[in-house]
Amino acid sequence: MCGIVGCILKEDEDVAPILFDCISKLEYRGYDSIGLATFSDNKIHIKKDKGKIIEVDNKLNLTDMPGSFGIAHVRWATHGDPSKMNSHPHVDEENTVAVVHNGIIENYLEIKEKLTLEGHVFKSETDTEVIPHLIQKFMDEKFDLEHAVRKTIEVIEGAYAIAAISTREPNKIVATRKDSPLIVGLGENGYYLASDSPAILKYAKDIIYPEKGEIVIVDREGVIVHDEFDNVVNKQIETINWTPEMAEKEGYEHFMIKEINEQATAVTNTLTQKENIQEIIDDVGDLQRVCFVACGTSYHASLTGKYLIESIAGIPTDVILASEFKYSVNTLNDKTLVVFISQSGETADSLKALDVANQTSKTLGIVNVAGSAITRRADYVIQTQAGPEIGVAATKTYVAQLTSIYLFAAVLSKNEELLSELEKVPAFIDEVLEQDDFIKELSKRYNYARDFFYLGRGYSYPTALEGALKLKEISYIHGEGYAAGELKHGPLALIDEGIPVVVILPPGDNYRKTMSNLEEVKSRGANVLALGAEGDESLKTKADVVIPINPDVKEIIAPLVYIVPLQLIAYYITLEKGHDPDKPKNLAKCVTVE
Ligand code: F6R
Repeated sequence: MCGIVGCILKEDEDVAPILFDCISKLEYRGYDSIGLATFSDNKIHIKKDKGKIIEVDNKLNLTDMPGSFGIAHVRWATHGDPSKMNSHPHVDEENTVAVVHNGIIENYLEIKEKLTLEGHVFKSETDTEVIPHLIQKFMDEKFDLEHAVRKTIEVIEGAYAIAAISTREPNKIVATRKDSPLIVGLGENGYYLASDSPAILKYAKDIIYPEKGEIVIVDREGVIVHDEFDNVVNKQIETINWTPEMAEKEGYEHFMIKEINEQATAVTNTLTQKENIQEIIDDVGDLQRVCFVACGTSYHASLTGKYLIESIAGIPTDVILASEFKYSVNTLNDKTLVVFISQSGETADSLKALDVANQTSKTLGIVNVAGSAITRRADYVIQTQAGPEIGVAATKTYVAQLTSIYLFAAVLSKNEELLSELEKVPAFIDEVLEQDDFIKELSKRYNYARDFFYLGRGYSYPTALEGALKLKEISYIHGEGYAAGELKHGPLALIDEGIPVVVILPPGDNYRKTMSNLEEVKSRGANVLALGAEGDESLKTKADVVIPINPDVKEIIAPLVYIVPLQLIAYYITLEKGHDPDKPKNLAKCVTVE
């Protein structure tokens, strides 16, 4: 959802190569345009265009720009097509102010109209362009850059993280945020601003998290943060424990396949959260209801949580899509724990719901990105230990979310057996990953397919939904997940000769009924791909092909293991189709608009 970066170097060296390196690490946030602005010789220099980073760099040589401070942007278009004109940084007419922005300015049309009447001329179709014009206007009225930015945020409405530079006050970057992420990095060679930590891991480990409405002033001497009354805020410095290598492909062709292969580690590392979870549960006390709120993949992890908590802890549990949360508000009370699951911790729909839930209930965030907005606003936090996830499609963070939920349910119900089953999961995942070549070959069989169905019962139903989401978001093939028993109530009409149906069949209580559903689709001509226990001979005779999983993977923990082949299938089908799995069209990693 757009990424921004800013950097000011302590020494008089060219900043463009560093800005370029940092912004390249945020390509997962936006990949339709890129632009840089630097300052030298009393001028703002800008290079920008639409296209992938590598294409624009080949054309414009983005690392070759003068100046020791500047700002950069990768765009995920919201207002105005991807084009050179609409790419950031945006400037005022006289090129005295340059701005990069992540978010949406909701009242930009009325501001634009007003400024146009005052004589401002706009060049782009973006909402962002009003910002440099407003800053210029306030600087013309004799405000310094900091206060011109402050006056600007009094006018604009919406979500934003912005960084601005001006020829009238060189050697300074001023930044601020509201409802869009922004971090400040204190590096050895300079000071950094970024939408997300992977951008600056190589340069700065010590981080400050500005709050909504705070103004960050960065110059060669350091960083000052002012509150809305111009008071200096003493910000806490937090150290990130992620390494720069974690945000590199490290020899893999794509981030997605690297992250799929890191899942056993993600589970092992997340299991260390047991003590923290015990403390949270002790502190929450009397718990009469759990309510999960999430979007997308995180919603599917939450659905698994409902099955688990209701069945093993006997506590009524709801799962609500964050964007639909407002209709449930009247049912919340102080005995409800509202759990927000999010990889990024910055999803706008979830944040909006969190602010509402905080008014009535205790809130818990299960989040991967340390210091993100959900971690700062929820009463309790479980940090999933998956490391940075760069591929747009969530994989390792999903299993890490599941691991946290399983730990939570096991600790809540004092279920030692489940805890010991969880310990076995990393080895089970690695066994599935050993079948990589087989699954790659298998994926070639589905080149003809335009629709897929995914069926599962009980714990395997959310896995079916997640398998279908992975397929559709990166391969652009329609995939639909269904509760296996629900198919006969309508969608069975869609099953035709050759349509691929993926059936998730771990050994356990639901096995026989799901097997009947498999036979229903098979007898209507479906091409059945089954996931089941190795050695299940009956499955072998009934399905067209079987991906065998260790028979010791019990139904209850199957979601943590059975999702892995489904991720691999989606990945390899996407490669067969010639698409980039890391950057699916129209999607961004972090959705900071509602
Ligand atoms: C799909 C995917 C999305 C996210 C959703 C919520 O692979 O990644 O569906 O799960 O946008 O994002 P977070 O988890 O950051 O709140």
